Amino acid sequence: MTNAMIRVKNVTKSYSRGGETLKVLNGLNLEMDEGRFYALMGPSGSGKTTLLNLVGGLDHPDSGDLFVAGANLSDLDGAELARWRADNVGFVFQGFNLIPVLSARENVELPLSLTGLSRAERKKHAEYALELVGLKDRMNHRPKQLSGGQEQRVAIARALATDPKVLLADEPTGDLDRKSAEQVLDLLVRLNQEFKKTILMVTHDPHAADRAQSIVHLEKGELGRIEHNAPAAAK
Ligand SMILES: Nc1ncnc2c1ncn2[C@@H]1O[C@H](COP(=O)(O)OP(=O)(O)OP(=O)(O)O)[C@@H](O)[C@H]1O
Ligand SMILES: [Mg+2]
Repeated sequence: MTNAMIRVKNVTKSYSRGGETLKVLNGLNLEMDEGRFYALMGPSGSGKTTLLNLVGGLDHPDSGDLFVAGANLSDLDGAELARWRADNVGFVFQGFNLIPVLSARENVELPLSLTGLSRAERKKHAEYALELVGLKDRMNHRPKQLSGGQEQRVAIARALATDPKVLLADEPTGDLDRKSAEQVLDLLVRLNQEFKKTILMVTHDPHAADRAQSIVHLEKGELGRIEHNAPAAAK
């Protein structure tokens, strides 16, 4: 047995649109080790977001199995899947998806509402996560009062608040300038190295992909080559 954190077995996924069926994933097989940082690359429409959503239990495959963080996702019903997600995965999106009327701290506290933590503990956890991403001094700011890079770091703090094993990031640096992108990548590398998070990050940017330990290529719903980078350079 390997210590795979993510195991994708014979997964197929199609979408129907206007009477036509679009095959997106075609019997995909893939294993990702615990504690490793993976970049997922591939042309637009190759199924990267689809795969990320399946791994995070946001969607179901047509056939095949996903084993993630010790669970076979096909065994879980809707409520169990929501619980599993809350305990095991954190999501980071290109567009940050912060709630505009809430402060940074309140945004980070949101996923903690699904846990049994008291209000005071939730606040403490949120503040710790914001400290980790270097934004404790901004915790009372609303998203509009932050730069894009800061917003994304708040979103990462939100993804971390429940201390998930797996972080799934869909083009997290896609909307950021170079310097902010670099800060977000530095943070992801640190979360991988220091906190042993397993990370799967979709990116179009070869420079961003180079910060990961392995680069997985997806082509037309099938696995292409996998490259392994030299040990990630945490700055
Ligand atoms: N809910 C949906 N309904 C119908 N078609 C969909 C749906 N979601 C995705 N698709 C189609 O499936 C294919 C794969 O989409 P996906 O979003 O996974 O690609 P991607 O690799 O993430 O692309 P990008 O790099 O542009 O984000 C695309 O052709 C897309 O149009
Ligand atoms: Mg996508």
